Amino acid sequence: MNKLKKIYKKEVLITGGAGYIGSAVAHDLIRKGHKVTVLDNLSTGFKRLVPPKATFFKTDISNTTNLKKILKKKKFDVVMHFAAFIKVDESVKKPAKYYNNNFKKTKIFLDYCINRGIDKIIFSSTAAVYGNKKKKVTEKDKLSPSSPYALSKKKCEEFIFNQNKLKRCNYIILRYFNVAGSPPNLETGLVTKKATHLIKKLCEFVLGKKKIFYIYGSNYPTKDGTAIRDFIHISDLSMLHILSMNYLLKKNISQVFNCGYGKEYSVLQIVKSALRISKKKLTFIFSSRRKGDVGYAVADNIKIKKYLKFRPRYGNINYIINTALKWEKKIKNKKFF
Ligand SMILES: NC(=O)c1ccc[n+]([C@@H]2O[C@H](COP(=O)([O-])OP(=O)(O)OC[C@H]3O[C@@H](n4cnc5c(N)ncnc54)[C@H](O)[C@@H]3O)[C@@H](O)[C@H]2O)c1
Repeated sequence: MNKLKKIYKKEVLITGGAGYIGSAVAHDLIRKGHKVTVLDNLSTGFKRLVPPKATFFKTDISNTTNLKKILKKKKFDVVMHFAAFIKVDESVKKPAKYYNNNFKKTKIFLDYCINRGIDKIIFSSTAAVYGNKKKKVTEKDKLSPSSPYALSKKKCEEFIFNQNKLKRCNYIILRYFNVAGSPPNLETGLVTKKATHLIKKLCEFVLGKKKIFYIYGSNYPTKDGTAIRDFIHISDLSMLHILSMNYLLKKNISQVFNCGYGKEYSVLQIVKSALRISKKKLTFIFSSRRKGDVGYAVADNIKIKKYLKFRPRYGNINYIINTALKWEKKIKNKKFF
């Protein structure tokens, strides 16, 4: 039994593990008995979100002097690369910031990992690489990024595809749709200064942290004129990383997977649900579309069901909003900034 357990335990290198998604995956991996090392420069993340049992290094992913010291200490089975800047609207204003941090530094980092023998890569990509589509997207659909953020992710994907063609690595690229909520035990969650995530902003609004709530865009060609999104609960997304890791280590086959439930919700529907759940009667304002936003982004998720045997556990939108709200209440008086 002990022997079996030993074989099963993996050494996982995580970048961006002090952030929202990376920290949730780090917690889940540790709970399953894996060993986790987190690299994060804390530019948008927080040390206190990193599980205490993880080994933590405060470093930029492009700092090869630090990487040299860290990577020589352990042999990693897999790297999960989350570290990135993630704000679509900011990327429109500062495209170079996104190109440098998300693409250039990813290239330096992954190249360094591959040269040191870490050749199994799980990469956080985004539904935004598809751009504006009218129907559910499959992984084979043409990519057409509509913001510098999305473009930076597409460039990373291309770099990984090329490395794979050169037989230098195998990968799982996960294209996340809208990630939301907190794990049921509220051990981690989303902390950010100027949130752009719809559900996060709504939680801040209903808890009185924000006075006005803007719905960006009311003239999209959708049933109520607001944008349509596909929300995935953080813990189901986290599970997809563990399933991906097991798949990659067992089969050594590279794959791209959409990570969403394939359910459509309009922004207005989500706003109304949040107000109903929180029992608040607040008014919101319709505003013009944000640059870089698309009208419709919903996953065809047949592939994750087929290859990863993905069975969602937290797909109920009320549950997603509820856990986000509980997390927001939990951190309301905690000083993060
Ligand atoms: N949150 C979403 O809805 C969503 C949707 C699609 C894709 N993604 C992708 O998921 C990943 C994680 O997103 P998140 O929501 O957890 O964001 P986050 O901002 O909470 O976490 C990102 C982490 O990366 C760290 N980081 C950034 N640049 C770094 C660098 N150069 N060196 C070291 N550390 C660095 C930050 O300090 C932070 O802790 C990102 O790659 C993002 O593009 C997120």
